[in-house]
Amino acid sequence: MRKVLKWIGIVLLIIIAFAACGAAYINFSGIPSYEVKVIDYQSTSSPESIERGRNLVSMLCAGCHTNRTTGSLSGAQMKDAPPEFGMIYAPNITKDKTYGIGNWTDGEILFLLRTGIKKDGKYAPPYMAKLPNLADKDMNAIISFLRSDHPLVAADPTPDQPSQPSFLTKFLCQVAFGPFEMPKGKISMPDTANQVAWGKYLAHNLDCFSCHSADFKTNNFLEPEKSEGYFAGGNKPLNLEGKVVLTPNLTPDPETGIGKMTEEQFIRVLKTGLKDGTAAMQYPMFPYDKLSDKEASAIFKYLKTIPPIKNKVERVIYD
Ligand code: HEC
Ligand code: HEC
Repeated sequence: MRKVLKWIGIVLLIIIAFAACGAAYINFSGIPSYEVKVIDYQSTSSPESIERGRNLVSMLCAGCHTNRTTGSLSGAQMKDAPPEFGMIYAPNITKDKTYGIGNWTDGEILFLLRTGIKKDGKYAPPYMAKLPNLADKDMNAIISFLRSDHPLVAADPTPDQPSQPSFLTKFLCQVAFGPFEMPKGKISMPDTANQVAWGKYLAHNLDCFSCHSADFKTNNFLEPEKSEGYFAGGNKPLNLEGKVVLTPNLTPDPETGIGKMTEEQFIRVLKTGLKDGTAAMQYPMFPYDKLSDKEASAIFKYLKTIPPIKNKVERVIYD
């Protein structure tokens, strides 16, 4: 009996030693690096691409990268990042050559936004957006805007605050998350005359599904429809005080989803944040005033076609 106990003790010690080495290794080696492919790409700029890019950036990037002191995209602390991820700062992405991305090539920006690999090879952890399915035309619009003379991206010499990713973030980046592949072919825009196809493209690429499905951990970014509880809500994003604000069910279920909402109500709440005259959108949801009525209507039409899921989500209200 004592011999058995002794062996169990030795085996346990070995396991603990291995686990400690593994943990030390993960902590020391940090966020993993990957091969950087040199992409020969030059964005093309026109007043339309800059306008479209501005709208996309304000919906997809500004929430994290806007510095509330300077008003430009010169970076900010992500107060809504779960504390378990560490202290996270979104860097300066203005045209400043020292502190922003003025020294990045268009190809390097494209490679990061598609794959999640930065120009130094490091993987940008899951809290930085990736756009694997965005159409080439919209991607060009974003990059041409980042290169434009718009005040939001004018060179702003605000130094970056280095992020301090936690052990958990490093661990997840080593074992669970990794870069997406660079798309092999062209990604074309959906037919914008087909409202359902256009709405699906927007609902996926404006990232609506990622907050409005069951959980960030079970989202499928390459094939959003395979995300658990696709659009049935209940996900738990945080507000700026670190409190959970549950996401509503946007499937067509009449009792627990948007089945009884009219198109007008949907467009109004999405674009203005008002529902029946009362405020219905607290952070991290914000009014998508950059969407045209046609785009908001397309998203509504698409959501009406997806499988209804019964999932009652209580509205959380903080004052
Ligand atoms: C949810 C927050 C969030 C959103 C949304 C977001 N980013 Fe980021 N971004 C970050 C964080 C945090 C980092 C730093 C990642 C790291 O530490 O490696 C980052 C890094 C970057 C970098 C690398 C800069 C550098 O100096 O290393 C670029 C470029 C960038 N983001 C551009 C964008 C663009 C363009 C968009 C919109 C399409 C966007 N980001 C959306 C949070 C965000
Ligand atoms: C960062 C997470 C996040 C993203 C991204 C997001 N939402 Fe939301 N959304 C929420 C939360 C949280 C609420 C609930 C806000 C509240 O209770 O005040 C909400 C509320 C809503 C509502 C109101 C529903 C109701 O019954 O009152 C609609 C409609 C909506 N979102 C649609 C969208 C669409 C369409 C998109 C993409 C264009 C989107 N959301 C992107 C988190 C998000």
